[in-house]
Amino acid sequence: MYIIAIDGPAASGKSTVAKLIAKQLGFSYLDTGAMYRAYTLYVIEHNIDPYNEELVNKNLININISFDKTDIYLNSINVTSRIREDDVTKLVSIVCAYKKVREYMVKLQREIASTSENGVILDGRDIGTVVFPNANLKIYLVASNEARAKRRKIDNDKLGIICSEEEVLKELIRRDEIDSQLKSELMTSLQPAFARISAMGVRYSALPAHTKEIADALNEEMSDKWSGLRGISVVSFGLSSATASEEDEKMIKELQ
Ligand code: DC
Repeated sequence: MYIIAIDGPAASGKSTVAKLIAKQLGFSYLDTGAMYRAYTLYVIEHNIDPYNEELVNKNLININISFDKTDIYLNSINVTSRIREDDVTKLVSIVCAYKKVREYMVKLQREIASTSENGVILDGRDIGTVVFPNANLKIYLVASNEARAKRRKIDNDKLGIICSEEEVLKELIRRDEIDSQLKSELMTSLQPAFARISAMGVRYSALPAHTKEIADALNEEMSDKWSGLRGISVVSFGLSSATASEEDEKMIKELQ
């Protein structure tokens, strides 16, 4: 089975790219962030103090998370839209940092992936390092802060959340800070590496199978649906979490 891991900062377009590649290759897409969101929703709805780690851990036995195509179910209830709401977004980074919660989700992610027929694509900060360190292909997706804020604002507008682009940007920067503080062995982020794809075109170097299809899919999509967000991304492909070249680092810094 072929496993693709996508990592990158919040709102860099990970899930959009993951869904696109899944469609292109006939893979299944597993939204791991949605799983942490679903459990956070359980915590909220059962008035569990999210800062009480022991209590949060204890309640894991009461949940059942499942997927049906693009929908996610928490104890048989479809929570696909509900988990995108503000209360969940604000607390998920607290809940997802607990060791037991992560162990539970990682185990479930491996189980779900093992039932996939062709291949599976997963996004999240720990996918290429902890969940599937031997993934066949790892993608690190970055985007400028402006493009990230723009994308998050469009998402928020769809959900009826009223906020300015400046507010969105501030929240993204706050999330980046939390995410970098929370880094640990349990959720190491993949680092940018090797070749890259940008909105300008594709460059290859030592890339594994399927990359061409992925690159073609990305290019096609960028010139069409994403034309309004053209500056959005540079994508780095890599096989290891510690192979970011100096040049990659420099370029990515310049973009952000
Ligand atoms: O991608 P998202 O915003 O839906 O993710 C929700 C939260 O879950 C976010 O705080 C990052 C976290 N997350 C994680 O810790 N590990 C993953 N594999 C995926 C998401």
